[in-house]
Amino acid sequence: MKKHDKHFFLRDHWVYDPTKPRAVRENVKLGFDTRALHAGFHPLENKNDFVSFTPPIVQSITFPYNTFDEIPCPVYGRTRTPTNTVLEERLAALEGGEACITSGSGSQSLFSLIFTMVEPGDNVVTSLNIFGEGYKQSTSIFPKKCNVQFRFVKEPADPQSWADEIDERTKLVWIETPSNPCLFITDIKAVADVAHAKGVPVLVDNTTATPALQRPMELGADFVLLSISKFIAGNATVIGGAIIGPEPLVEDIRWNTTEFIGSIIQPIEAWLTLQYIETLSMRMAKHSSNAQAVAEFLSSHPKIERVNYSGLKTHPQHELACRQMSGMHGGLMSFVVANGVKGAATAMNSFKTIVHAVTFGTSRSICMHPPTITHEHLTPEERKIAGIDDGLIRLSVGLEDPKDLIEDLEQALSKI
Ligand SMILES: Cc1ncc(COP(=O)(O)O)c(C=O)c1O
Repeated sequence: MKKHDKHFFLRDHWVYDPTKPRAVRENVKLGFDTRALHAGFHPLENKNDFVSFTPPIVQSITFPYNTFDEIPCPVYGRTRTPTNTVLEERLAALEGGEACITSGSGSQSLFSLIFTMVEPGDNVVTSLNIFGEGYKQSTSIFPKKCNVQFRFVKEPADPQSWADEIDERTKLVWIETPSNPCLFITDIKAVADVAHAKGVPVLVDNTTATPALQRPMELGADFVLLSISKFIAGNATVIGGAIIGPEPLVEDIRWNTTEFIGSIIQPIEAWLTLQYIETLSMRMAKHSSNAQAVAEFLSSHPKIERVNYSGLKTHPQHELACRQMSGMHGGLMSFVVANGVKGAATAMNSFKTIVHAVTFGTSRSICMHPPTITHEHLTPEERKIAGIDDGLIRLSVGLEDPKDLIEDLEQALSKI
């Protein structure tokens, strides 16, 4: 067995060692936009028999053996394909991590990471500022099927509150910032400091900001979760997820979890994602300036009770967000309309340009009602703590002309 995939027989579990330096990419010379175009594949440095300007789509899930005892690399498309390898390298380079493993969705990536790291009796510390399926994993499948408990910190703005929930069975601290749907900002560095002091690694879900606006590993995170389905692949054409982190952890997930119960993202979707990534930072800048204009309009509207967008100076964590997110605040926001569910339904039924649909991060603006669609499983008390009021509308601000979005909002809000 000579030419096998170098990790094919790896079965050791990665164990976090707080005394070792964090596994991040050192000496990154190329800028973010250059990495978005070149990491993982350069036309003149490719290893194929031909020269191609774009990464080739190798739409095959199996890779023939040359001889009986030489396992090819890749060997099977559940764990590796040449096109996916380019995407994984590109995402790792953008986040500044050592390695990356993709999967069929962001939810699957979260599940695979936690499933790989925990044993029955362990716990994970997080807050109620997390996406809906994340909450459902935390309160159903993990505690009920795996005896892994999730602890929701009481004061997520206070690092000590995170420290208070950590004990000797805590395997992971999981932060989502800015959070979906209320755009709560968690201080990555402050929470990472308290978690590391207690010997626990930190995951940051970077789906809403993307590495174009926020790089959690530069702020102290050990791993990053991305839903590719959102801004990364930009227009609701691809569903996928990724974990970026230390190489031994990534290979632990690949060979001890994905190999048995999942799959990496498939070649054509990896290729599409690579095309979208080429314009990621330009898109995020336009999403951000559009969202800023929309948030400013909404913040003085009489039918609006609250606007959640960290670009507003009135946002309680505006300064932290400015420090943590390279001065831009992304395309996701939410707001509470007068008249609760009825008011939300009236506004959403009246939109002409903004589309009512699940997901966010699309080039067309999209809205959704979290209390009934994604966060309906939270108890009423948890929804209150998380700020998920009955009249909350999540708005993913797209790339349209901002004046048209504002006009659409204006006419819809006038119907409430
Ligand atoms: C912040 C965040 N992370 C992860 C996910 C999961 O992504 P996917 O839809 O690809 O499973 C979502 C989905 O809404 C999300 O909002």
